[in-house]
Amino acid sequence: MPAYSASVPGKVILFGEHAVVYGQPALAVPVADVAAKVRIQPAPDLPRGEVLLTAPAVGLRDASLNSLPENDPLAKAVRLTLEAVGAHMPAARIWISSTIPVAAGLGSGAAVSVALVRAVSGFLGKPLPPQTVSAIAYEVEKIHHGTPSGIDNTVITYAKPVYFVRGEPIRTFSIAKPFTLVIADSGVPAPTAEAVADVRRAYQGEPKRYGALFAAIGRVVESARAAIVGGAVEDLGALMDENQRLLEQIGVSCPTLERLIAAAKQAGALGAKLSGGGRGGNMIALVPPQNPALAGAIAEALRAAGAVRTIVSLVK
Ligand code: MEV
Repeated sequence: MPAYSASVPGKVILFGEHAVVYGQPALAVPVADVAAKVRIQPAPDLPRGEVLLTAPAVGLRDASLNSLPENDPLAKAVRLTLEAVGAHMPAARIWISSTIPVAAGLGSGAAVSVALVRAVSGFLGKPLPPQTVSAIAYEVEKIHHGTPSGIDNTVITYAKPVYFVRGEPIRTFSIAKPFTLVIADSGVPAPTAEAVADVRRAYQGEPKRYGALFAAIGRVVESARAAIVGGAVEDLGALMDENQRLLEQIGVSCPTLERLIAAAKQAGALGAKLSGGGRGGNMIALVPPQNPALAGAIAEALRAAGAVRTIVSLVK
């Protein structure tokens, strides 16, 4: 059985985070500038069926798969994959690495799950169809946060721009005119689970107010999709700003993100917003389509304002 590797991209949510958990649409795109990678090698030197996992980012070095708790996300991804393919794992070593920052809204958890499912099923010579890959990654997402919408595992599995509505079949969308985003990491770690749980509590306390905010975000998403599909990139800036204002009212922004958003706009970005769970993590800024060279200046302004890392990414 030869060694097998899988590599999958990260993602950014362009519009609609949080409201998507409550049935509103959202738009997300893959980010190929970062990736989660899994490599599996047969290990004839190990006892039969022994599988050792190494994932430096979470402090695992040659950890036996069987010794990991039931709800360990990596172990769960492997176990669900073995169930789906109906096979046992021969003795093997699995290496997991990722350049996707953790707890930053770029889909690191979902990307590792998708890479693991692809690598394990591919290693066993039984690659799984994308619906099954995405469904397994969704089950693992539930460990990270109880009520995921499914957008992260979907966009990462299909690696295409996705117009996502919870519970509905995947719909991709086309980008008439490519556009450039600067993605900036605030450096504030922000587990999506906490932000999602806080929003749920707030929604339960004031369902009418929050329901109206989610619906308003849904309308922004529809306008943004029409602009992207129609090639009206310059309209996206104001829509990003509007989405950000609504996210602030929902309570998932924070002063650090708002400082970065202001810096990006000052440097010439057409619009900017947080991306993902918020409270920290990443924000995105739109580079004016008529002046793509501004990307460098916007990235520099973001770093000067405290961003720990910036990525200039072409959305196409
Ligand atoms: C996380 O990337 C996006 C959220 O909308 C949560 C979810 O959709 O599961 C905040």
